[in-house]
Amino acid sequence: MNLIDYIESKREEHLNELKEFLRIPSVSTKSEHKPDIERAAQWVADKLRAAGLERIEIVLTKMHPLVYGESMNAPGRPTILFYGHYDVQPAEPLDLWTSPAFEPAVRDGNLFGRGTADDKGQVHIHLKALEALNHAAGKLPLNVKVMIEGEEEVGSANLWDFVQKNRERLKADALVVSDTSMLAKGVPSITYGLRGLNYYQIEVAGPAQDLHSGVFGGAVPNPITILAEMIAKLHDKNFRVTVPGFYNDVAVLSKQERKALNSLPWKEKEFRKTVGAPGLCGEKGFSIVEQLWVRPTLELNGIWGGYTGEGAKTVIPAKAYAKLSTRLVPNQDPGKIAKLVEKHIRKLLPKSVECKFELLSAGKPWVAPYSHPIFQKAIHALESGFGKKAVFIREGGSIPFVTQMHDTFKVPCVLMGFGLPDENAHAPDEHIALENYFGGIKAVALFYQQLAAQ
Ligand code: BES
Ligand code: MN
Ligand code: MN
Repeated sequence: MNLIDYIESKREEHLNELKEFLRIPSVSTKSEHKPDIERAAQWVADKLRAAGLERIEIVLTKMHPLVYGESMNAPGRPTILFYGHYDVQPAEPLDLWTSPAFEPAVRDGNLFGRGTADDKGQVHIHLKALEALNHAAGKLPLNVKVMIEGEEEVGSANLWDFVQKNRERLKADALVVSDTSMLAKGVPSITYGLRGLNYYQIEVAGPAQDLHSGVFGGAVPNPITILAEMIAKLHDKNFRVTVPGFYNDVAVLSKQERKALNSLPWKEKEFRKTVGAPGLCGEKGFSIVEQLWVRPTLELNGIWGGYTGEGAKTVIPAKAYAKLSTRLVPNQDPGKIAKLVEKHIRKLLPKSVECKFELLSAGKPWVAPYSHPIFQKAIHALESGFGKKAVFIREGGSIPFVTQMHDTFKVPCVLMGFGLPDENAHAPDEHIALENYFGGIKAVALFYQQLAAQ
């Protein structure tokens, strides 16, 4: 049986196995899920073994283990390093899921469940592609190294340490990642640019303790009001970030790239439908695709303080808080941007309050040319696997690890995403289109087969 027929014959089996993976609630941010994280790591290790990988290791770190395996039985053939993550975001709010987050269910050609798109479904695509290749040839026809981590959704704090300590072991001709999206259904895509991400938390402190708002209101600083006023000044009327110097290092797109990105088969109507808001707003002077992929932003992610329980409580809170983040694009430097943002925020706040400013995480943007021949092989494999034309895109999400790997190993990074922008990653009813899951297995198997045939 040839490779594709073999993959076709295993559809039911593959789907059932993925469901097994999805039933493990490997939420990395909550310590109560530590046993599930360990179970998921063990599950991945077992499947790597089944796919023909050797020297499989569950590497313990300060937080969650990463799983490593390799097969180096194809002398003279290329070596790829595949990276993915088995951890997932929390499923809350649980009541907004149509079917329970950790009880995968198929509806209308989609598989629903936490991790289906981000990233267990995509990791499983590679595990099954490798297994099919191993089965077809009796061994893996190219050299493969696989590294699946359990801390991606909490910032990959210990991954880099492992990479540093294993630089020789991890050497490869290319990094392959499936943790991104396709432009749209029926448009298989290779992502060649991602935004970076800085995440901040601020605390604005006024009175030494909560105060009766009748006794004190009118004469004392209210941290919520002050925080809100400050936040309102972070954008101007054209929706540009007001932080001085914020745009200084932003790379200007070449005419060519601007044209290429704006002529992709991207549909504004579909985007509006996915967003579901009465209207859109973004930086003036740029198309939506540009706003999403090549322009930096500042977003409020959370704001809290004071009384939010049932009924009324007349209080002036002692403190107010906000979480905010900046998405960064080439050639913005995360360290430099963090300093500019902090300086601006401090300047906007009056002397009547104190402010604690914390940078919770920092990650660089990434963009790279796709001139290396491996990208044409990837495009070709996607087109064969899906029977559709494939395109090169950039995306707004962040995988800081890709930048670190690219800077360190200077090898091509092939980001083949099988998610879709409307698949609710990080949200209730996360799902993956079955056509992309099954198409993905074929495309990846063909990609690896072509690399081996080189
Ligand atoms: N898979 C995503 C990144 C992503 C999403 C890339 C969509 C391209 C398109 C990843 O799991 C993720 O959620 N990243 C976080 C940042 C990370 C440091 C926690 C993000 O982008 O917010
Ligand atoms: Mn992911
Ligand atoms: Mn994610």
